[in-house]
Amino acid sequence: MNRSTSEANAVATGEVEGTVRDLSLDDKQMTTDSCAVNTEQHHGLLCSLYGVWQTMKGRSSGRQSKMASNASDLDSPGIQSAVEKLYSRVATDPNGKFEFHLGAEYAISKLGYDKAEIGALPKSSTQSFAGVANPHIIDPIHTGEVVLDIGPGSGTDLMLAARRVGPTGRAIGVEMTEEMIKRCTASIAAMGLNNVEIRRGNAESLPIDDASIDVVISNGVLNLVPDKALAVREVFRVLRPGGRFLFGDIVVSTTLLQKISRNVDLWALCVGGATTETGLVTLVAEAGFQRVKVTKHFDCVRGTSKEFFARFLGVRGVNIHALKPG
Ligand SMILES: C[S@@+](CC[C@H](N)C(=O)[O-])C[C@H]1O[C@@H](n2cnc3c(N)ncnc32)[C@H](O)[C@@H]1O
Repeated sequence: MNRSTSEANAVATGEVEGTVRDLSLDDKQMTTDSCAVNTEQHHGLLCSLYGVWQTMKGRSSGRQSKMASNASDLDSPGIQSAVEKLYSRVATDPNGKFEFHLGAEYAISKLGYDKAEIGALPKSSTQSFAGVANPHIIDPIHTGEVVLDIGPGSGTDLMLAARRVGPTGRAIGVEMTEEMIKRCTASIAAMGLNNVEIRRGNAESLPIDDASIDVVISNGVLNLVPDKALAVREVFRVLRPGGRFLFGDIVVSTTLLQKISRNVDLWALCVGGATTETGLVTLVAEAGFQRVKVTKHFDCVRGTSKEFFARFLGVRGVNIHALKPG
């Protein structure tokens, strides 16, 4: 399906329009449409401010800002190594300083996770939770289903899924970062679950058989993947006909200029690789999915150290539902 056809389909179903109508006043105020400057000036200013901020941080910690040197050398291995470095630290030092929220309290208060369900999971998992939305409230996961979590990190969503599907179902995680795999494996053992496994692999080439999965979930990962369209086609491949893709991701309110989208640090922070809501819905529809719709928005940046920058770009978390035709 070409871009204009799938975009037209998404709009024709009211899915994109519906999400725009749902925006709160706060949401509208955070879009760049309401700014007096044009996109280029806006992103240039933002990028300069980000550079100054990084330089100041670098000086105070004895490091130089990587902004300028990163801006022109973005490639897939560069992105993946920055992502692995950052999320290794999330796995090994969850109480350290990060420019985004982490942990159980954040999941409950900002993303609507159930307090009792989160409380039943090992701290080793929930401490390093780094999602941006909540796939579990998009559509129920049923007993006996086979669920794949792409980029489960320390395994919070993966173990919630394993508990939902029960002993007759299975939950499989595919994760790229070794330190996350270690943390997730320890948490699975602590839970005593034997219907769940984690495999090392990449979202762009899933170690999963064709048409073998009932539900694919993911939370805060697609925006980190260099070739998002390829990753979505992989999801389509592994789902059985009629299978659901229920995922959380970051969107921005305007197409990012290269100063931002070619900065590896901003990629690792889930911003550089983010697309607009319409762009993301279109990308998923282009892979062949139907009933693609944004079901909820999340203000996952409130109170973070990058809130100011994130507000200017209209960064927020979204829950997205998609169906592989039966
Ligand atoms: C923002 S964290 C979210 C982790 C988890 N979903 C959660 O909610 O806590 C992103 C995770 O995706 C993993 N990841 C990033 N890119 C990936 C890729 N291409 N393939 C597999 N995993 C990836 C990272 O290693 C990290 O664990």
